[in-house]
Amino acid sequence: MKDTDALRTLIRLGSLHTPMAVRVAATLRLVDRIQAGADTARELAAETGTDPDALTRLTRHLVAVGVLSEPAPGRLAPTEVGLMLADDHPAAQRAWHDMDQIVARADVGFIRLLDAVREGRPTYADVYGRPFYDDLAGRPDLRESFEGLMACDQDVAYDAPAAAFDWSRVRHVCDVGGGTGGFLIAIARLAPHVTATLVELPGTAAAAREQLAAAGLGGRTEVVEADFFKPLPCTADVMILSFVLLNWPDEEAVRILERCAESLEPGGRILVYERDDLEENASNELFTELDLRMLVFLGGRLRTRDAWWELASRAGLEVESVHRLPSPTVPFDLSLLVLAPAGEAP
Ligand SMILES: C[S@@+](CC[C@H](N)C(=O)[O-])C[C@H]1O[C@@H](n2cnc3c(N)ncnc32)[C@H](O)[C@@H]1O
Repeated sequence: MKDTDALRTLIRLGSLHTPMAVRVAATLRLVDRIQAGADTARELAAETGTDPDALTRLTRHLVAVGVLSEPAPGRLAPTEVGLMLADDHPAAQRAWHDMDQIVARADVGFIRLLDAVREGRPTYADVYGRPFYDDLAGRPDLRESFEGLMACDQDVAYDAPAAAFDWSRVRHVCDVGGGTGGFLIAIARLAPHVTATLVELPGTAAAAREQLAAAGLGGRTEVVEADFFKPLPCTADVMILSFVLLNWPDEEAVRILERCAESLEPGGRILVYERDDLEENASNELFTELDLRMLVFLGGRLRTRDAWWELASRAGLEVESVHRLPSPTVPFDLSLLVLAPAGEAP
């Protein structure tokens, strides 16, 4: 690579303005508006109630970096990249970049990444005045956006992990921090004999109740509002932790695992559905990006395979098996880890 290429690459990597410009475009729904006919900066400014000069300068930068194009002087059109910011694009990138929705809002915490790195703690509360989940509890609009983003393509996301486990001897399953119930719906399709409890915080619990009832599972599933750091309100043959432990530092993750372990029926197992990575893949950008988001948003982390072994052992458990599963919704493999009480794995 020539020096000039290296310099350009470094400046692009270090840029804050382009990511923010893309996020403002997503938040203001510029691509949808252009497609609906408002294809000049002046019309876009009028529709979005923004400053015409500032919006013109924003769209000029979006043209310069290839998100928009200018097919005729003063006329704007989305490029192939820009088209992904249309609200109905299947990749759902507009919502992920919309600063009024939870993930792009939480990304603003990266402004304080230096503090996160110096002190090894999340910075969400520095920016918004309260921790991530407290903010969701106080802002139903953010909680709903979180549920929406987490449930992207929910119809297919849980089929693989549900199919990777043998449910034939399971009577009752408890999905701890189960979101709006997607995993339980996938299990119900495969194992109609299984009954279930979903444990969640109050707002999401209400959404889960609705979704499970809509799936015809109201009679076979119970949704309980409870804090998974306290003793769980049910016992089960299988406890599920799907995309829960990545939100928490090791100490809290161990406590959640301990709560699950003490509520297992004899012979029971804990299923952890998440990203697990061999050490050699841990510098993969898709791993590091989510790992840093977990640090900044919540003080959580992604874990390598060794870290999962260590975490399980601290909670009195052991990893019995790992099922590597290609994900239909994210561009990397996910894993279903089966944890057994220490000494019980064959
Ligand atoms: C990243 S989401 C994962 C949701 C779901 N399991 C999935 O696979 O999409 C983590 C969930 O943990 C829930 N949660 C966070 N803190 C909790 C607590 N103290 N007690 C119970 N649930 C909690 C959140 O409401 C959220 O739905």
